[in-house]
Amino acid sequence: MESVDGLILERNINKEKMKPKKLGIITSGGDCGGLNAVINGAARMAHTKGIEICLIPNGYAGLYNLNDLDPPIIDFARADKIHSGVAGSEAGHSRVKISKIKDPNKYEIINAGLRKHNIDGLIIAGGDDTGSVVVDLTAKGIDCVHVPKTMDLDLQTYSVGGDSTINRISKFADDLRTTGLTHNRALVIEVFGRYAGHTAFRGGIGADADCILIPEIFVDYEVVYQHFKKTYISRLLSSDVKGSTYIIIAAEGVRNKDGQFFTDEAASTDSFGHAKLSGVGQYIRKKLESQMKNDKDWQQVLTKEGIFVKDIYEYPEIREVSLGHLVRAGGTSSYDVSFGKQAGGAAVLLMLEGICGVTVVDVQENDIQYMPTSKAIEQRNVNLNKIEFFESLGVCFGRKPVDYHPMFSEQHGHIRRHL
Ligand code: F6P
Repeated sequence: MESVDGLILERNINKEKMKPKKLGIITSGGDCGGLNAVINGAARMAHTKGIEICLIPNGYAGLYNLNDLDPPIIDFARADKIHSGVAGSEAGHSRVKISKIKDPNKYEIINAGLRKHNIDGLIIAGGDDTGSVVVDLTAKGIDCVHVPKTMDLDLQTYSVGGDSTINRISKFADDLRTTGLTHNRALVIEVFGRYAGHTAFRGGIGADADCILIPEIFVDYEVVYQHFKKTYISRLLSSDVKGSTYIIIAAEGVRNKDGQFFTDEAASTDSFGHAKLSGVGQYIRKKLESQMKNDKDWQQVLTKEGIFVKDIYEYPEIREVSLGHLVRAGGTSSYDVSFGKQAGGAAVLLMLEGICGVTVVDVQENDIQYMPTSKAIEQRNVNLNKIEFFESLGVCFGRKPVDYHPMFSEQHGHIRRHL
């Protein structure tokens, strides 16, 4: 890694290099909101700077097969047809990692493809796996600038797609509350996010969820059950129409008390080689149901409230809903359109300065901030101090609440926030 970092530093100061005349854009990994904004931002900045830019289809699969492709030039008219507010990517994706391609000549083949189309450098939007390929290609002498993108928000920088996903999780969970409340059901809503709980956490807070379970906190089921029981019953008792519900947002990577993931597909992996996580919603539902069956208080409460029906309705129903790809699909938030356009445009400007092997961090006024991609892709998890604050507001995170001990500091000047 050190030698790669060394290479990056060398490249950072290589401003005397020939300016690129044509760039290629790749988007890769799981799709999400903001990718079309990145493409638009990069394309429009390239036009302004008088250079050509083309789309390399289907992520690194397209890069490897570039010799056989005719990558479309994104001129002004073509860029005009790519709507930044639509999620997904005009370029298409694959989960192909170059280092995993068995062909020993893969880098020569990629270089030949780039030469064939006169592509001098690549702007590559993606998450940690995609970024690791940026590091790899940079070390092989291919000029790349990385634009951070992942709905998991687990990079060191903000990633386009994070805000859109959070908004969608909140919206769908809020929508589901109406059916939960009508049927007096508790809902366990499972959401993507892999090994980081950022979007489950913020999406859950946005939806006023009662309980949010994230990979960073190993779940104590007794705590969840007691919080559910208390919240559900108090809602029921305060309702003049005897209605109640309880909303759990569970990140797919939630872990058991012993740190194990719940997954019914442990053996199956995606083409990046990651285990496919799924099944946590169902697992939690079954767990809560079995706790309710052994708890006589429900019969007493439901009888008193006029809901109990022997053998048919003896305790509240629980349903699990997996939001799956819905949280990455559809539309892009305005924040992500704005960040995506800036990040795509900034990537072109970095490339023109000869600053490669780096990830765009932010654009603050006229300051384009970046960091080595090898650093940017280090996994970032939810800081538990942030959780303590919301625990003090009564949200359950699957553990006994930890006291929040604030510090107080007066701030001056520009403030940056990171979700
Ligand atoms: O990395 C983004 C992500 O949405 C993860 O949160 C999720 O585990 C994974 O992609 C799902 O990937 P796929 O669309 O390949 O099933």
